[in-house]
Amino acid sequence: MIKIAPSILAADFACLREHIRLVESAGADVIHCDVMDGHFVPNLTFGPLIVNAARRSTSLLVEAHLMIAQPERYISAFREAGADRIIVHVETCPHLHRVVHQIKETGAGAGVAVNPATSLATVEEILPDIDLLLLMTVNPGFGGQSFIPATIEKIRRSRQMIAALRKEILIEVDGGIDNETAATVVEAGARLLVAGSAIFGAADPATACRELRQRAEEGLTRTIISAHA
Ligand code: DX5
Ligand code: ZN
Repeated sequence: MIKIAPSILAADFACLREHIRLVESAGADVIHCDVMDGHFVPNLTFGPLIVNAARRSTSLLVEAHLMIAQPERYISAFREAGADRIIVHVETCPHLHRVVHQIKETGAGAGVAVNPATSLATVEEILPDIDLLLLMTVNPGFGGQSFIPATIEKIRRSRQMIAALRKEILIEVDGGIDNETAATVVEAGARLLVAGSAIFGAADPATACRELRQRAEEGLTRTIISAHA
């Protein structure tokens, strides 16, 4: 089962609710909110206020992807804003175990994100404690960047690490996901696909969302066929 998470970073904030409802009606599964602080990443976006606006616009799962330094200072604020899942970057958390458990204590799902140049070894010990592993397929900070092909092998390795644990951990990919790359990341092991510009940058976000799912499902079909070959 593939899940699609449109990123509101590429939406029109003057009509955020309408944009969110468009993709909800097209079958999107998760609303992805990119929080940037101008410090961990060069760009600045938004905080809990907009996450709360997203929350009040949809019944879908809302996730906050925190690209901010010292995320532990804002976990409760994002939870109170209505985030169902909170994702922190391993690069921002020297005490990652503590932060993951801080997220879980709020009742939110806990995710950990890994930049393209960060080794999977940095999350190996925390995997048993998390619900979701987010593999960045671009360097975080901006929408509309090109997918980094070297991350495909990393998705495969993360799938193997998770399979060895025999635990349900969702593998999410984020950055440069479009109709060209969707099937490939699914074949490698991704099951939750974030897409900003490919959906909200399209003339018709609802159709774009449906098409992206179709491309992703094709990757899943290929995986099933090759497993039985
Ligand atoms: C990048 C953000 C992404 C971004 C993806 O730093 O984490 O979620 O919105 O945008 P696209 O899909 O345009 O690459
Ligand atoms: Zn993101």
